[in-house]
Amino acid sequence: MTKVRKAIIPAAGLGTRFLPATKTIPKEMLPIVDRPTILFIVEEAIRAGIEDIVLIQGRQKTSIEDFFDVTYELEDKLERDGKEKMIEQLKRIRSMANIISIRQKQPLGLGHAVFSGRPVVGDEPFAVLLGDEIMVNKEGEDTPTATLARSYESTGLSTVAVMEVPEKETHKYGIVEGEIQPSGAVRVKNVIEKPSPGQTKSRLALPGRYVFSAEIFQYLETTQPGKNGEIQLTDGMTALASGSGLLASQFKARRYDAGDKLGFLQANIEIGLDHPEIGAGLKTYIQELARRL
Ligand code: UTP
Repeated sequence: MTKVRKAIIPAAGLGTRFLPATKTIPKEMLPIVDRPTILFIVEEAIRAGIEDIVLIQGRQKTSIEDFFDVTYELEDKLERDGKEKMIEQLKRIRSMANIISIRQKQPLGLGHAVFSGRPVVGDEPFAVLLGDEIMVNKEGEDTPTATLARSYESTGLSTVAVMEVPEKETHKYGIVEGEIQPSGAVRVKNVIEKPSPGQTKSRLALPGRYVFSAEIFQYLETTQPGKNGEIQLTDGMTALASGSGLLASQFKARRYDAGDKLGFLQANIEIGLDHPEIGAGLKTYIQELARRL
């Protein structure tokens, strides 16, 4: 079975939930402690065996591209100051996978953003990782993208990650409807974009990790604007489910929606607690704060 070697990271959205910060800074560059969100996403792709990463960028997003490029002046200064560890970190970032940028000229929707990656992906299967969703796994554990890629490689079917959410939260996500298979995976029948209350009984939400066969492009090419006037990836997924088929499976990871203010703060606190330099100090601070609240 064909190996999943390519990934698309859509990062061309306007980030309106995070204004005014995102007026000039892409939300994917906002830091979780000392690392921009996009670095977590790229690392997850690499851990899944991805070799080529297609970044879908919008206007004012060149800082993301620059982040994965060489910074001569900085490296030169660090070298003169003898800061070897930091130089190593910067070198590691710039030698990560092949990063290819594609411009989405208008933010017409996630389906359109994914379709913009077609010239690089071609006929190969590929992963999609949303640029503002962080997944944290323990060392050695399979990341959600790795789990999906291995599923594709053994079944030959497009597979997407799902998680159960309470009924009151279904309106925030794409929701998958389908039938549970003996393997535990769900055979998807239908995908609804941000359903209104009572529109579905399913609680299976899409947190932004997918592996698709290139067949999805043929559906996205003709997908018309749907919910909120955007070309929705979920509409393309429903067409794919009726075509060669689509599986959904649960995953293991701590997940943060870093494109949302509360999710972003939770990520900073929890990832901060694991941080070797500040973890202990942050824990003491949180304990003191909890006593005062
Ligand atoms: P979101 O809906 O979360 O992103 O899209 P947004 O539109 O930037 O956010 P808000 O709601 O205005 O705050 C999910 C992902 O899809 C990308 C976004 O960058 C984000 O990573 N996206 C969305 C695109 O790349 N292009 C689009 O046209 C829409």
